[in-house]
Order: sequence, then structure tokens, then C-alpha cells
Amino acid sequence: MPLLEVAALRKRFGGVVALDGAGFTIDGPGIVGLIGPNGAGKTTLFDIVCGRQSADSGTIRFENRRIDGLPPHRLARLGFARSFQECRTLNEETCLDNLLFAAQDKRLGHGLRGIVAPPAQPRDAARALLATAGLERFANTPAGDLSFGQRRLVEILSTLMAAPRVLLLDEPASGVNPTLLATLAAVLREAAPRLGLLLLVIEHNMAFVMGLAARIVVMHQGAILADGTPADIRADRRVIDAYLG
Ligand SMILES: Nc1ncnc2c1ncn2[C@@H]1O[C@H](COP(=O)(O)OP(=O)(O)O)[C@@H](O)[C@H]1O
Ligand SMILES: [Mg+2]
Repeated sequence: MPLLEVAALRKRFGGVVALDGAGFTIDGPGIVGLIGPNGAGKTTLFDIVCGRQSADSGTIRFENRRIDGLPPHRLARLGFARSFQECRTLNEETCLDNLLFAAQDKRLGHGLRGIVAPPAQPRDAARALLATAGLERFANTPAGDLSFGQRRLVEILSTLMAAPRVLLLDEPASGVNPTLLATLAAVLREAAPRLGLLLLVIEHNMAFVMGLAARIVVMHQGAILADGTPADIRADRRVIDAYLG
């Protein structure tokens, strides 16, 4: 039974066709990159998978169960989480509180497996996560005082607090400096197997996503142009013509 099956998604905004039959099947946990030119439909696809928008047609199955049309809170309860293209930290709140707020009302407790075993307190789990990103010294600092890249990390650590089963990251590397990018990659590479997570990453930074993902899905004009290993994708003539070239 596949973990996630997205089939024949279509979505129009007025005269604009954002999704034109996009679909793919993901068999199990791991890291999958989603790339393609601006306007290809990547964010719309994430919005639909997370229940933030509804498709005009098409289906989404999670462990064989139809989930298209479910509202975001139901999907969150099933283990779906996401980040947004623009960074959404709570800048007045401390980094620690950003993580603690993110865990509230989700799957806390159930979710903290593996971060600190056994999790004494959500607070301990949050501190442990901050430490994995080298941010423990900012635990009591308002997120707004951090650099953009550090806030990105705080945002992504926050999504991990609920120990999601499917995490959708929309351009996590954009605006993040190379040092913090290496940290971000290390955090994700460590978290994905530990949490048994399916991580779907939209990204324009090819070095980052090709180094992180075992599989790359390429979108173009609302459909899937190519799907394969990073090596396959780099060598794919259609992808080079439409995007990489
Ligand atoms: N809410 C919206 N209203 C109107 N058009 C939209 C909306 N969201 C996306 N689009 C259009 O749909 C297409 C796909 O957008 P998007 O999914 O954001 O692409 P990507 O994330 O790959 O850059 C684009 O042409 C975009 O302008
Ligand atoms: Mg986008």
C-alpha cells in the first residue's frame, strides 16, 4: 500500500490552469524534491494536499484512504504539516515558545517520539530540537531578533514538534545563507528517518534539493514533466530545456 498517492489533480484560477492532471505515488517515508519553474503549480499542489485549497478534480490517498477535501485540522491530526513560502515565525515570542506553540493542539506527546526518549516535557523536546540546529542559545530570545535563516530554522523545527508523518516544505532554502543551509540539510536528514517522515520539499536551490532528496519530481505547467533520481533528472533533456538549462 503506497503512503501517498496524488492522482490527476486539476485546479483552475479563473482562466489560469494551475494544475493540469498532476499526480505521483510515493511508496513510503523518505525525502522527495519537487522542482520546476515559477508558476508550475508546486505551491498549489501543496495547498491542496494540506486542505488549504480544494482541487477541481483528482484524488489524494494517504495509506489508501481518500483525504482530498478534508479540512486542514483533520489532515494535521492525520500527521500532515507544512511550512509556507514566506517565513511564519511568531516574532514577538521566544524561539522556545515558537516550538511549544507549534506543538499545542497537534499530536503532542504521541509526536515526540525519538527526540528525547522518553520525553520528560515538551519543553525538553523543544530544547533538544533547538540544539540539533545549534540554536539552543536563542531559546529565550524573541524569534524576531534572529537572522532570516535562523528564523527559517525555527519555523521548520516548529513543524517537527508535532512529529508529522508527512511534512511539506515550500522553498525552505530561499534566503538562507550557506552555513545555515548545511545545518538545515543536516536537521532534515536526521529527522526524516528518525520520525519515519515523508518529507516533500519544493525548492529552487538545486544543489540543496538534489543533495537532500533521493527522488525528484519535476513539475511544468501544472503537470509532472519528469520523476526520478537526482542523476536521472540532471540528465533529462526535457527538464534541462524546461527548467535547468
Ligand atoms: N490564489 C490564486 N489565484 C489566482 N491564481 C493563482 C492563485 N494561486 C496560484 N495561482 C496561479 O496558478 C499558477 C501556479 O501557481 P503556484 O502553484 O504558486 O506555482 P509555483 O509554486 O510552482 O510557483 C500560477 O500561474 C499562479 O499565478
Ligand atoms: Mg510556489
